[in-house]
Amino acid sequence: MAILRGKDIPKAEGKLAILTPGMGAVATTFMAGVISVRKGLSLPIGSLTQMGTIRLGKRTDKRSPKINDFVPLAQLDQIVFGGWDIYSDNAYEAAVKAAVLKPQHLDPIKDELSAIKPMTAVFDHKYVKNIDGPNKKTGTSKMDLAEQLRADIRNFIKNNGCSRAVMVWCASTESYSKPTEIHETLAAFEDALRKSDPNIAPSQIYCYASLMEGVPFANGAPNLCSEIGAMQELAEKQKLPIGGKDFKTGQTLMKTILAPGFKARMIGLSGWFSTNILGNRDGEVLDDPESFKTKEVSKLGVLDDILDPKSFPELYGNLYHKVRINYYPPRGDNKEGWDNIDIFGWMGYPMQIKVDFLCRDSILAAPIVLDLAIFMDLAHRCGMKGIQEWLSFYWKSPIVKKGLTPEHDLFVQKTKLKNTLRWLMHEDLITHLGLDYYEELD
Ligand SMILES: NC(=O)c1ccc[n+]([C@@H]2O[C@H](COP(=O)([O-])OP(=O)(O)OC[C@H]3O[C@@H](n4cnc5c(N)ncnc54)[C@H](O)[C@@H]3O)[C@@H](O)[C@H]2O)c1
Repeated sequence: MAILRGKDIPKAEGKLAILTPGMGAVATTFMAGVISVRKGLSLPIGSLTQMGTIRLGKRTDKRSPKINDFVPLAQLDQIVFGGWDIYSDNAYEAAVKAAVLKPQHLDPIKDELSAIKPMTAVFDHKYVKNIDGPNKKTGTSKMDLAEQLRADIRNFIKNNGCSRAVMVWCASTESYSKPTEIHETLAAFEDALRKSDPNIAPSQIYCYASLMEGVPFANGAPNLCSEIGAMQELAEKQKLPIGGKDFKTGQTLMKTILAPGFKARMIGLSGWFSTNILGNRDGEVLDDPESFKTKEVSKLGVLDDILDPKSFPELYGNLYHKVRINYYPPRGDNKEGWDNIDIFGWMGYPMQIKVDFLCRDSILAAPIVLDLAIFMDLAHRCGMKGIQEWLSFYWKSPIVKKGLTPEHDLFVQKTKLKNTLRWLMHEDLITHLGLDYYEELD
């Protein structure tokens, strides 16, 4: 099926379910923010779908509508929230425990948040060692658990009168694992589900259930999930968008803003040391070396891909890149990330840059969950199936088709995202060539 564009894109009619495995800090901050904005109590800061504009045509045309007015997106008042968690706290209780948002922001939306109750989770302690909770499913096999999740999705959509759904993984980072042959094809994966193969992680079961129910899936954590061959095959077969992985927030966001700048100016780099302290549950999970390894791999890949040391050995061939995450409870969700960057310039003279980012993890992640859900839904209505490279903007480790290198440069990613929207709406792509200027001189 060809991709539907312009007037052919089906309107975003009816309610959209946004389903999050995991109802912790990120998911509840996202839900609280949307509800608060709907009530006119907050602004959706950080969200392109809600605040961004898009330039169209020539610079002299002065056309820059809001993205939300330009493409047919689901609106905030059409969203219904659902989720799963191993803890039975409702979204209000979970948000209070996560302590990201202050009572003054949670109290006015207590009723709406309290009504969002987690469904029982598919959980395997082997994949997340530092936490455990009571709200879990039991089943005769992993396939049985997948069937139960599928029933959850169907029931949720039906009971809430939704016309469509999107799933965004907001649960804990699972321990590091590499793809095995059971991950390669859909047939092998389904066979392994029936045999409860230990190599199948819970996130993969959610992803499978989501795609089987015709629901696009995005993975907000760095663990092995949506990129495996079996899920790619299933997404193609079901004609569904799929994406991942690991929301691009905090230190990696800074890295993908700064590194392309150094590279653009051919400034050399000899070292980049990044360390963080954070005290939320995510930090607790990442205190386990197995889960940290998953995060580390996701964070380390970024610089190599941006700097391309093979093509620029004199500038980036000897870069020492280190990333540390330290669990430090007093900070809660308010992470502090330090970067020491050793750069060198003309004739090799060294310089240093220090970045101290006192950030709020979930505040940065929440608008990403919203934008991804809304754009994945748009992609679904347009018939865009498989990996959505134009959404790389939101990922720390964008998944790409075999043989391709991911694009990490935030500004290239932004251009790609906006040009995709222009293309969808039959507008000229913007190259910033400024040919009109030379044509006038001619
Ligand atoms: N906050 C950020 O800036 C950021 C950036 C990138 C990625 N992430 C990732 O997003 C995820 C969520 O982060 P968070 O800060 O909300 O963490 P969190 O620990 O507050 O919330 C995760 C929730 O997932 C639940 N959970 C774990 N396994 C589950 C399962 N199998 N099924 C259902 N629920 C399960 C946990 O009980 C917990 O409530 C983490 O994987 C994190 O690494 C966060």
